Amino acid sequence: MYILGIESSCDETGVAVVQAQVSGTPVLLGAALYSQIAMHQDFGGVVPELASRDHIQRVLPLTEQALKEAKLSLQDIDLLAFTRGPGLAGALLVGAGVASGMAMGLRIPSVGMHHLEGHLLSPFLSADPPEFPFVALLVSGGHSQLMRVDAVGQYELLGETIDDAAGEAFDKSAKLMGLGYPGGPALAALAELGNPKTFALPRPLLHSGNLDFSFAGLKTAVMVQHRKLGVQPSHAQLADLAASTQAAIVDVLVKKSMAALRQTGLSRLVVAGGVGANTSLRQHMNAACATMSARVHYPELHLCTDNGAMIAMAAALRWQAGLLPMTKPGQRHDYSFNVRPRWPLDAIDACAH
Ligand code: KG4
Ligand code: ZN
Repeated sequence: MYILGIESSCDETGVAVVQAQVSGTPVLLGAALYSQIAMHQDFGGVVPELASRDHIQRVLPLTEQALKEAKLSLQDIDLLAFTRGPGLAGALLVGAGVASGMAMGLRIPSVGMHHLEGHLLSPFLSADPPEFPFVALLVSGGHSQLMRVDAVGQYELLGETIDDAAGEAFDKSAKLMGLGYPGGPALAALAELGNPKTFALPRPLLHSGNLDFSFAGLKTAVMVQHRKLGVQPSHAQLADLAASTQAAIVDVLVKKSMAALRQTGLSRLVVAGGVGANTSLRQHMNAACATMSARVHYPELHLCTDNGAMIAMAAALRWQAGLLPMTKPGQRHDYSFNVRPRWPLDAIDACAH
């Protein structure tokens, strides 16, 4: 079974081909990615209309590139997978429309995938894939969630952010400090040069007794500290503020993840989503998991942020689990499609088409 996956939910166009057998971990054969970061940089954030228009231009050349790397042609593909949500409506429609159109032309099935399920299952693309069950910390630009994962498709929400996502906390703090967009990697790089103990920033909901997060207050505290530094803070002061901000976010994410492991009694953790690329988060998570004799799994660094491989992989794992009825022999293919800009992961099967 060859699966072509298309991701277009936000500011990355990703296309990838995965090969799946009835059992065994599916294999990534080819992948191509285009990031729109440079285009959105001038605006300090993603401009949805520009994002959609750019996806339209990129998706077919990227498809050719991914197929070439996989040494396959479009006619070899058995299943088209696209990101159905959550994400920007116009951007999602590009991937959904192209995938459904290609599937119709090829007379093969197409399936709309959940973006967060893609992130969640992305460590299966690594050399050290996790075993079920596990706790997953999903930390991206739009989401911060702790999930209990018992099997492919069996997700229970344990806790989530009540306001900003962890990636948003990185991005908004970075913006306040004049570090540009996307702020996460920029703030992380500056933090390397600073002292994380310089500013005592809040750790919201750390002792709330539940597994929810809140990051909006942290952003305000960063703003207050930044103002106190005056109009032209030195590079060293900014580095200290960046390090202190990162430490506050990492501290909350690590402690809540450990609480989730304790609460569920599980001993495996998966950290996925763009913020999962953060070096300090990985270091602190590794150390905390070691003290609890828990194992932690991450996607490959380049597969933490959005990409097509995670969408193709999620479809492959769903197919192996028998969760894709449209791939069963004799099925009439339905090429109507829709997108779900808002779509909670624990409601994933409530509206499958
Ligand atoms: O998963 P992703 O690519 O897109 C969403 O689904 O949102 O995550 C993007 C987020 C952004 O907020 C970005 O700043 C953050 O991940 N990010 C990082 C790092 N790399 C990406 N945050 C902290 N440290 C990093 N190294
Ligand atoms: Zn994402």
